[in-house]
Amino acid sequence: MTRRPTIVLLATGGTIAGAAASATDTTGYTAGALSADTLLAAVPGLGDVAHLRAEQLFNLDSRDMGPAHWLAMARRVRSVLDESRVAGVVITHGTDTLEESACFLDATLASHKPVVLTGAMRPATALSADGPMNLYNAVCVAAHPDSAARGVLVSLGASILAAAGVRKGHIGRLEAFCASDGGCVGQTGPVRFFAPPPARPAPLALPDSAAQLPRVDVLYVGAGCPPEALEQAVASGARGIVLALPGNGSVPAAWRDAVAHAVAGGVPVVRASRAGAGAVTPAADDAELGTLPAGDRPASAVRVAVMLALATGRGAELARLLRP
Ligand code: SIN
Repeated sequence: MTRRPTIVLLATGGTIAGAAASATDTTGYTAGALSADTLLAAVPGLGDVAHLRAEQLFNLDSRDMGPAHWLAMARRVRSVLDESRVAGVVITHGTDTLEESACFLDATLASHKPVVLTGAMRPATALSADGPMNLYNAVCVAAHPDSAARGVLVSLGASILAAAGVRKGHIGRLEAFCASDGGCVGQTGPVRFFAPPPARPAPLALPDSAAQLPRVDVLYVGAGCPPEALEQAVASGARGIVLALPGNGSVPAAWRDAVAHAVAGGVPVVRASRAGAGAVTPAADDAELGTLPAGDRPASAVRVAVMLALATGRGAELARLLRP
């Protein structure tokens, strides 16, 4: 018999660990109600894929996660992967802010061993709950030799997505996540990747404490919205701004002065798009206003990248760090 790889499950809550009063209730439930061991017990056959070790890191609805949770997760992932007998990590996570955690973990991941995030769109008590299959697939991905050196992966439904550029794109569908163009890197059942692992940037250092991660605000720019939101954000202490702008990150004329003023004051302003897919590419505004294009990351993930760069003294390299 071949030796099964050891995979560590870090459970953090979410709908995958959610419980409702009735099997037909898929919205009125408590996220993060079931333990890591209960999640594992619901998946027959997992023991044939890997030797599993489970830890309950938190048990939260992911809307309540933030910098302290990202840092705790990243530290735990690092120390678990440092154990030579551990082949990979699976993290169960709420889907609502999974993209932020995935971005943080990916930017700071120093190991080639696989780290796979998964979640569910239906609580564990629902008819046809999707969590057990998602967990099974995530463990298969983490245990697969071809998953090495790919950075953090997200496994949900039948898709394997690269962390950079992943976003929750639907509030109800089981295949809730979208990837940036080219960001769907493989599929499960069985695990198969579409291309060899890409070259990866050097990992960013982990900040010593969550307090070092500065406030960075995301501002959604609707047609005709006044720029006061930007001025107020900077005045009240934001150290970086991500604008979710129309189209290819187009800065409205009424916002130009406020943007240029923020940049001149040392507050980086990144042009992301509210369109939901596609890459924001360099534009004349970047030279004129000092803005940075977000590439194909969602505004939520760009915010995390900016926080990390500022916290680790890499703010001057932001343009390079944001490049895909
Ligand atoms: C959460 O993000 O914790 C709740 C929603 C979900 O997991 O789908």
